[in-house]
Amino acid sequence: SKREHIRNFSIIAHIDHGKSTLADRILEKTGLITARDQRDQYLDRMDIERERGITIKAQSVRIPYKAKNGKDYILNLIDTPGHVDFGYEVSRSLAACEGSLLVVDATQGVEAQTLANVYLALENNHEIIPVLNKVDLPSADVDKVKVEIEEGIGLDCSHAVPVSAKTGIGVEELIEDIVDRLPPPEGDPDAPLKALVFDSWYDSYQGVVVLFRMIDGKIRKGDRIKMFSTGISYEVVRLGVFSPDILDIEQLEAGEVGFFCANIKVLSDAKVGDTVTSENNPTLTPIEGFKEAKPMVFCGLYPSDSVDYEQLKQSLEKLQLNDAAFSYEPETSQALGFGFRCGFLGLLHMEIIQERLEREFQIDLIATAPSVVYKVETTDGKTLMIDNPSKLPDPGRIVTLYEPYVSMEVHVPNEYVGNILKLCEEKRGIQKDMRYLSATRVVISYELPFAEIVYDFFDRLKSGSKGYASMDYEFSEYHSSDLVRLDMRINGDPVDALAVIVHREKAYYYGRAVALKLKRTIPRQLFEVIIQASIGNKVIARERNAPIGKNVIAKCYGGDITRKRKLLEKQKEGKKRMKRMGNVELPQEAFLAALRLD
Ligand code: GTP
Repeated sequence: SKREHIRNFSIIAHIDHGKSTLADRILEKTGLITARDQRDQYLDRMDIERERGITIKAQSVRIPYKAKNGKDYILNLIDTPGHVDFGYEVSRSLAACEGSLLVVDATQGVEAQTLANVYLALENNHEIIPVLNKVDLPSADVDKVKVEIEEGIGLDCSHAVPVSAKTGIGVEELIEDIVDRLPPPEGDPDAPLKALVFDSWYDSYQGVVVLFRMIDGKIRKGDRIKMFSTGISYEVVRLGVFSPDILDIEQLEAGEVGFFCANIKVLSDAKVGDTVTSENNPTLTPIEGFKEAKPMVFCGLYPSDSVDYEQLKQSLEKLQLNDAAFSYEPETSQALGFGFRCGFLGLLHMEIIQERLEREFQIDLIATAPSVVYKVETTDGKTLMIDNPSKLPDPGRIVTLYEPYVSMEVHVPNEYVGNILKLCEEKRGIQKDMRYLSATRVVISYELPFAEIVYDFFDRLKSGSKGYASMDYEFSEYHSSDLVRLDMRINGDPVDALAVIVHREKAYYYGRAVALKLKRTIPRQLFEVIIQASIGNKVIARERNAPIGKNVIAKCYGGDITRKRKLLEKQKEGKKRMKRMGNVELPQEAFLAALRLD
C-alpha cells in the first residue's frame, strides 16, 4: 500500500543541540533544497526565531526520497517548537508521527529538554533513533553520551547514529535508518475522515492554514469537513503539501501529512490538537489529547504614550489572529491609564510578544511584572481566578488562597548540586527525587510554586551552575499557600500596577528589596518622594528620595555644548518610558523592580 512508503518523523532535541541544522542537512542530502537556500535555515522563518535561536512555529516538509533499496519513499519531517512554553504543541506534533530522531549534542550530553521530549515521544508510542551530533568537534564523546542515554533514559543505543549536522558526516546513513527503522503509518483509508490538526496559522490571503496528519479516510479539495471541537463545517478550498514550497494536491489519505485552507476566519476555530472529520460521514471518536491552550502568565501592557492606545489595540488584535494561545482584554490602572491585561503560555511567550509589539508595531510599552493565576475561595462561597495582584480581595474576604505549582526537573553537573538545592529550597520547592544520570550528572526533581519561577529563577539557575544546568517543567496542580498582597505606595498612594502577591514569610524581605529598587529607579524630583511597602494598612518598609533643587544642566557649568546636548538627549530618552503617577514619574524599570532583586 501507499502507507508502506511513508515515514512521518520529527526531530527532538535540547535547545542548541542542532535540531535545525540537522533538518537543513536532511533536506539538502535528499536534494530538496540546495546548500544555498539552506543558509536561511529553511525551517526557521521568523526573524525573532533566528535571533533567539528558537523555533516557534512548527512547520512540516514533505521529502521525496529514493532509498538504497531502490524504492521511492515520502518522508514527512514534522518540526516541533523548541521551548518549555510550547510543550502541548510539541506533544501534538509528535502525535502526528510514528518516530523521532533524538538529537543529543555529543559534546554536552543529555539535558533537561532531551528527557522531557523523550517522555513526550514515548507517550506517543514513538520509535526513537538516538542521534549523536557534533562528532566533528574534538570534544565530542560519543561513548560517554551513549552511556548517559542508555542509563539515564533507558533507550537502547546500539543503533545510535553518530553524525555531524554541520559537515554532513553520517547524515546519509541516518536517512536510510529513517526508512529502515521507523514504522510506516497505520490507518484505514476507507474509514470516515479523521485527521489531527498539529499546527495552524493565519494568512492574510488564505485565512487560516491548517497543517494536519491524516489518521483515517481521505480528504479531497471541495470536500465538506467539520472541526470536532466547534462542530463548525467548511469547504476545503485548497489542499496541498509543503515540499518545501507549496504543492497543490487533489487528495490525501490515511497516513499522509498536508495542509488545507477552508475559509476559516479565526485561528481559534482550528485549534492545535483538534480533530478534522467529514460533515456527512463523521468519525464517532475524536483523536485523544485535545486541550485548549491556556494562558498561565499575565501582565499588563500599557502604551508609554497614551496616544498609542488605539494602535496598541490594533496590534494586539493582529497578534492574536496568529496566536490562539495569546489573550488580551482592556484594563485600566490608576497608575498607568488605559491598557490591556495580556495572557501568555509562559515567560518566553510573553517576551516574544512584547518584543514583536515594540519591533514590528513600533509601540513603546510599559509592562507590569508578570503574575501567575491565583485561585481564591471567598467568604461568600465563590471561587475566583485572579490574574492581577491588585484585584486580590481583601484578606477579610479570603477563606483560602491557592497558587499553581509546577513539577520541575533540573539537570546539573554534580559539583553544582548544592547551589541548585539551595535555590529550590529558597523558592519554596518540595524535593521529589534526585538521581545520577551518569557519574557526573544529576537529575533533581522538585515541585515548585510557579510564581517563584516567574521571578528570577532562570538567571539564578544559570549563575548557580556556571551556565551548565538545564531545566524543564510542566504544570502540576494548585496548592493552598499563605500568601499576601504587597502594595507599594508612593507618597502615600498605592500604585496598583506595582502590587504583587508573595508568600507571607517573604513579604518583609520582598517589600524592602522592592522599595529600595524603586528608590533607585525613580528619578529624583523637585520634592520629597516617600516609597513604602505595605500589607493592608501595615507599612513594612520605607524609603525616601530627597528633593533635588537644580536643573540637570546646571551641572555642566554652561561649558561644553556637546556634553550639554547629550545630557538633554539622554533626558529625553529616559522620558520615553515613563508614566506619571500623581506628580511622580515612574520609569519602566520601576514596574519590573519586583522581578530582579539583586
Ligand atoms: P533550537 O532551534 O534553539 O532548538 O536549536 P537547534 O537545536 O535547532 O540548534 P541549531 O541547529 O540552531 O544549532 C545550534 C548550534 O550548534 C549552531 O551554532 C550550529 O551551527 C551548531 N551545530 C549544529 N550541528 C553541529 C555540528 O554537527 N557540529 C558543529 N560543530 N556545530 C553544530
